[in-house]
Amino acid sequence: MAEIESPRKPHAIMISFHLQGHIIPFVNLATKLASKGFTITFVHNEFIHHQISKSQNNSTQVDIFSEARNSGLDIHYTTISDGFPLEFDRAGNLNQFAESFLLDFPTRVDEFVGKILHSQSSSSYNYFLIADTLCVWPAKIAKKYNIVNVSFWTEPALVFSLYYHLDLLRKNGHVPANGLQENITYIPGIQSISTKDFMSYLQGSESTIIHTIMFAAFEEVKNADFILCNTVQELEAEAVSALNENQPFYAVGPVFPTDFFNNTVARSLLPESDSTEWLKTKSPGSVLYVSFGSLATIDEHVILEIAEGLLLSEVNFLWVLRPGTVSSDDDEILTVGFKNRIKDQGLIVPWCKQNLVLSNPAIGGFLTHCGWNSILESIWCGVPMICYPLFTDQITNRKLVVDDWKIGINLCGGISVSREEVAEKIKILMGGGKSDGLKEEMKSVRNMMQNALDGSSERNFDQFLKDLKAKILAK
Ligand code: UDX
Repeated sequence: MAEIESPRKPHAIMISFHLQGHIIPFVNLATKLASKGFTITFVHNEFIHHQISKSQNNSTQVDIFSEARNSGLDIHYTTISDGFPLEFDRAGNLNQFAESFLLDFPTRVDEFVGKILHSQSSSSYNYFLIADTLCVWPAKIAKKYNIVNVSFWTEPALVFSLYYHLDLLRKNGHVPANGLQENITYIPGIQSISTKDFMSYLQGSESTIIHTIMFAAFEEVKNADFILCNTVQELEAEAVSALNENQPFYAVGPVFPTDFFNNTVARSLLPESDSTEWLKTKSPGSVLYVSFGSLATIDEHVILEIAEGLLLSEVNFLWVLRPGTVSSDDDEILTVGFKNRIKDQGLIVPWCKQNLVLSNPAIGGFLTHCGWNSILESIWCGVPMICYPLFTDQITNRKLVVDDWKIGINLCGGISVSREEVAEKIKILMGGGKSDGLKEEMKSVRNMMQNALDGSSERNFDQFLKDLKAKILAK
């Protein structure tokens, strides 16, 4: 039967979540949707907009989608306030900021959506909402305005499943895990997982405002019309299909930009160094890339052990040491004496174009905190990993990389780590016999991901669009 087309154009109102690891896939999703003929109104909060502008050396105004628009995509870009002045220290006042995100920000979003829906051009469009799953308000707003509500989950289906079945985990006494080490087999779509591999928010006390946000978000998502997940169906087949039994759940990942190596849409919150010239001086596969992502903080003594371990390994390294990685004064962590000892073996930068680095032929391994984007990007480039998860989903993501897919090794058993351990694991990853097995597994996982891009993920995305249009028409 022929599809019935509405004379109104579908128009997504996309509200991003204010963290780097969420902004990147969300921006990519916007361009992907626009390339399918949708109109997009993309919203960052003003602070994020300001950070991106600053990172672009342009503290005034940057319309991050201007190039995309020049190439024919119908994306409008705008900002709303998060309720605080730009100079307010959000990380330093996390409770106040998070509380406002939970209680006040939804009112701003509500007003914003109301304005769009009552604007002059509104009769040309069928509006719907796409928000990050961590937002705690989409269902209420979608219900109020009678619009379709799409939730975008930027982490693996495994992590989604655990949060989704929080009640079941609680009923069985496995959350909070509180140091338990038990294998559980009763979560639909998860054959077996040890409680030690649960996300950090399921491990201990549940009293922080971040717990409140996470748990509220997973109550809210149960009212979403559609859930998109930045994962690959073949890699998480059972989890995806079990989730699909509850709500329409589509594996559409990896949601990468079409220009993977050199993003044309600004999305970075920090200025990016270019290490291409330095990497050119290194032979293929000889450099370990080291990064702990955009959020985590690490104890100073751990950083020093990692630094000494890198030197001890005698392997070339490119290390992203983000300002704020250590809570103390970062400039002082690595002494001048240490920096002199690195000589030509390594390069330390505050932030980089990670996609460009990972796809450089000189890179042979990745010491990673197991952020989900980093894992997807590493697989895409066929780079095996040493895993050093720090918190949140990273702990659970490690299980997928090391235990399930066998494309990485553990750095150590917990957070504490010695320089000798660091050097030993680097040598194993970058040369020893075990790395051949990892490379073989990586080839097959990478193939699966690359095939999915034009295969299952594209089909799932197209199915989502079909289902979405039908739902919009039925409203
Ligand atoms: C956070 C959580 O830690 C992570 O587990 C969750 O999946 C998303 O939110 P983050 O620490 O930002 O993520 O890690 P990750 O998910 O890997 O995202 C970091 C992004 O920043 C990646 O897309 C990476 O390419 C980019 N990046 C990182 C850079 O562009 N330059 C860098 O120097 C480092």
